[in-house]
Amino acid sequence: MTESNIHTTNDWAAIALAAGSGSRMSSKLPKVLHQIAGIPIICHVLDALDQVDINKVILVTNPENNNMLSEIKPEIPCVIQNTPLGTGNAVSVAYEIVSSFKNTIIINGDLPLITKETIQNLMKQHSDSNNTITLASTIIDNPQGYGRLKKENETVTEIVEQSELSEENEKLSEVNVGIYAVKTEWLNDALASLKPHDNGEYFFTDIIDIATRQKIAIHTYELNDPNEAVQVNNRIELANAEQIMQNNIREQIMLNGTTMVDPRSTFIDKNVVIGQDTILEPGVHLSGNTEIGFGCHIGPNANIVNTKIGDNVKIGASTIEMSVIGNNVSIGPYCHLREGSKIADEVNLGNYVEIKHSTIGRHTKIGHFTYIGDSIVGELVNIGAGTITANFDGKEKHQTVIEDGSFIGVNSVLIAPVRVGRKSKTGAGTIVTKDVPPESLVVGAPGRIRSGKGE
Ligand code: UD1
Ligand code: CA
Repeated sequence: MTESNIHTTNDWAAIALAAGSGSRMSSKLPKVLHQIAGIPIICHVLDALDQVDINKVILVTNPENNNMLSEIKPEIPCVIQNTPLGTGNAVSVAYEIVSSFKNTIIINGDLPLITKETIQNLMKQHSDSNNTITLASTIIDNPQGYGRLKKENETVTEIVEQSELSEENEKLSEVNVGIYAVKTEWLNDALASLKPHDNGEYFFTDIIDIATRQKIAIHTYELNDPNEAVQVNNRIELANAEQIMQNNIREQIMLNGTTMVDPRSTFIDKNVVIGQDTILEPGVHLSGNTEIGFGCHIGPNANIVNTKIGDNVKIGASTIEMSVIGNNVSIGPYCHLREGSKIADEVNLGNYVEIKHSTIGRHTKIGHFTYIGDSIVGELVNIGAGTITANFDGKEKHQTVIEDGSFIGVNSVLIAPVRVGRKSKTGAGTIVTKDVPPESLVVGAPGRIRSGKGE
């Protein structure tokens, strides 16, 4: 049994703070719900906590964001801080729930770049040294906005907040990251001793002062990468955090075997998965839970949202949303695949093709200027330039079915609900208003059956 397995189940709890008013964001959306790499800030923090050996995680919310947060992470219990009386008060509100655990992690909810390794290392240092408090620190070029650490003989004696910084303390460059490991029992008395500051807030960081007075030595865990300390208080910091996160994601994706011609113009959400030997040209945005297979060639300028793409797919400048695409498919340039498009293997979609809520069968070709909506298109179908499925009668949407092997002539309009039987043909400019039997030819406006053999 390794040492890490010897933990009793009540070793660690964590409190994530997300109840601040977030006023510096100037936003109607709660601060911690703004997104970085397609995921709310708070979810980055909770996901990191989820990956370490912590037995209970509590989220401190406020009356405005509580419902949204419990919906996003229903598995995490929330406790409401009714008034934003500071980080010290927020921890007090959650204390009772963690009181039976030996140690507690307290983490600010606006630290999207914090990694599980950092949390793990902080916990290990805290346990191995049997510390009362261990806090993450780092030295950064511009410490504006952070609490600064005052140290004597390598131990922290005080955290001075930006708002209370004297000129002499301006020079302090080691900052409080906003993640702490604390012995839970000790925390109880410390929280009770916190006093409000001039703005009425209880600062959690004052526990350092309390510990120092009790002659408790406070050690720091220094971050390996200062970027992990990036917090999001305003939208400039939001953009900065996004940029750092994007760089991390790009590097990981490239190391996993994807070519990125211009990483700086390629944007990838955190949950995107890409197979080996796929090439991303400049201007590619991959978002949500997009999955891309092996050997694909995407872009330049493609926007792909929540879509699953098979192997060896070629996509020119196009927008693809909530769709599923098979193997060896060629798309675009200038296609728009909307929600619910299911494209089978070997399909070819050419310029200016819009598809919505439709299934396209294997080996089918839709080459130019076409709208296919609410349709089932079979295998080996050829759809001529300018074909429109007229799916909306002004009140309701209707389905079009085009069976295997059909040939739809240029500028055909298929007035739904309608079915074109297998191996049928429509002439150029046909308006199909009635079902077409298999192996027939239909021409004219409105379309009339001209032959029973599709010739
Ligand atoms: C805090 C620290 C500061 C540290 C910085 C870096 C304090 C007093 N200061 O400052 O030393 O350098 O983080 O991360 O802790 N929150 C609540 N309830 C409240 C107030 C805040 O839950 O009443 C939550 C916020 O939602 C946020 C977190 O606590 O997720 C931190 O609050 P924030 O206002 O961002 O603190 P900072 O001023 O950045
Ligand atoms: Ca902050």
